[in-house]
Amino acid sequence: MKHLIDPTDLSVEEIDAIMDLALDIIDHKDKYSEVCKGKKLATLFFEPSTRTRLSFEAAMMELGGNVLGFSSADSSSATKGESVGDTVRVVSCYADIIAMRHPKEGAPHFASFVSDVPIINAGDGGHNHPTQTLTDLLTIRREKGRLNNFTIGLCGDLKFGRTVHSLIKALSRYEGIRFILISPKELRVPDYIITEVFEKNTIEYKEVSTMEEVMDELDIIYMTRVQKERFFNEADYVRLKDTYILDSAKLKQAKSDLAILHPLPRVNEIAVEVDDDPRACYFRQALNGKFVRMALIMTLLGVHA
Ligand code: NCD
Repeated sequence: MKHLIDPTDLSVEEIDAIMDLALDIIDHKDKYSEVCKGKKLATLFFEPSTRTRLSFEAAMMELGGNVLGFSSADSSSATKGESVGDTVRVVSCYADIIAMRHPKEGAPHFASFVSDVPIINAGDGGHNHPTQTLTDLLTIRREKGRLNNFTIGLCGDLKFGRTVHSLIKALSRYEGIRFILISPKELRVPDYIITEVFEKNTIEYKEVSTMEEVMDELDIIYMTRVQKERFFNEADYVRLKDTYILDSAKLKQAKSDLAILHPLPRVNEIAVEVDDDPRACYFRQALNGKFVRMALIMTLLGVHA
């Protein structure tokens, strides 16, 4: 039985197969409309979510399966003091696959030890978010036609942004990717990403503090929100939250085929005027999230069309 806790739990070949399946689902929706008939997905969300939870649920419904779960810790027995281990052990008696989001880093990993069914990490604290990464990879593949040989700028909260950590780990396995890390010094990527990913694999990267100085080099810009809920100090959040705002004026220096990605939710970091720019991919990205989760659910359950 396979779980998805870290993006590198899947090999590059397995990720490419999930992308291929997602692309086939996009083209032939009817073929897949009953493949998960009789199967249940449980979404255990101990932290807020819009896209991830609803796209998981929509994905399972479009495969003909059913969904159950909770959308906040308040509505689960966690409020009575039940441990994550006990909750997961019980839910794995009711569902065939579990998607779990938790504010504690490592909680889904722990859950995978006690679960009788596949566990999908739907975000663990400031650590990882592998299904957002699958969404991002599918988006890059659809928008740029490839998953190699480009320069990507990751901008904003690179310290607490779990989508950034997972995306870097996954992309570092493809050829010819140059990373430009755009953040204030307080929100730089964690040291383990520098040593364990970039330096260990001799991957080209640079750290800068403004988007203007690198805008014309980028093939992709991945904007992120400053992760308010991970700050210990409100004053630091307020000081850093609007460091980067991508607007039409800044995009004048960008390549004509730049792809602008954002995992969403956006707070202020992309001006609404950018939404009409053909280079804005973030709403298409959210749609890709549903298709790639359909492909992932099928893969982990071992079902075929
Ligand atoms: C992201 C997350 O939860 O980490 N959201 C998402 O799943 N699309 C990004 C964020 O919350 O900033």
